[in-house]
Amino acid sequence: MTDRRDLIVGNWKMNATHLDAIQMIQKLHYRLELDDYDRVDVVVAPPFTALRSAQTVIEADRMLIQLGAQNAHWEENGAFTGEVSAPMLERLAVSYVILGHSERRQYFGETDELVNKRTRAVLGAGMTPIVCVGETLSQREDGEAQSVVGSQLRGAFARLGPDLVGACSIAYEPVWAIGTGRTASPEDAGDMAAFIRETLIEIANSDTAEQVRVLYGGSVNAGNVKDLMAKRHVDGALVGGASLDPDKFAAIVRYRL
Ligand code: PGA
Repeated sequence: MTDRRDLIVGNWKMNATHLDAIQMIQKLHYRLELDDYDRVDVVVAPPFTALRSAQTVIEADRMLIQLGAQNAHWEENGAFTGEVSAPMLERLAVSYVILGHSERRQYFGETDELVNKRTRAVLGAGMTPIVCVGETLSQREDGEAQSVVGSQLRGAFARLGPDLVGACSIAYEPVWAIGTGRTASPEDAGDMAAFIRETLIEIANSDTAEQVRVLYGGSVNAGNVKDLMAKRHVDGALVGGASLDPDKFAAIVRYRL
């Protein structure tokens, strides 16, 4: 048996001002019980502009909600207009950084090589990268889902030793399931999570593969989370749309009840 703790992450994407974020985090806090945090790491990833306010409200009320960011540059500082570095995030008490999200790959030219550089920077700053992988609909229909995910993993973790790979989490997010209301079946999600773990054995070793948390993302809601989480290799969820509503997100966190 493994002792991987559940990890439920709300990816707010480009939603919520810093004022909205304070309210959303307070509401989420009131809807969760202390016991919930015994079983689950609860993370919200607001836009950069809301992180400072989020940190302040979390610390002031001693909340157990953890903070995530949605990207990080690979350099610590320098002439990179518009970018935010990993140490800057770490100083805002950010614990997790989402990297290589399909929206970044699709709209902002994110590549596996860049994901690799960002992953190193985030690890170097002592935070946990959540490396996103996933195939498009046409890749799935062409029977390429595993080869696409396998090569994304090899790219993201290139030249990283097992210890560093073991300090990451992975989110499997089939592109066709994101924001579409069309969730992968628990079987498909579970099979891909198992494939990801097998690939981690090849990239690193079996201890590392057992340790890394593999999340599923793509139209997760309170109605489907339980069946997804029942799969042996699925350790959590990366939640977009439903994470913007504190009631819905709390229900996802509390899926066991
Ligand atoms: P969704 O987004 O839950 O709205 O499908 C998931 C994600 O993109 O992380």
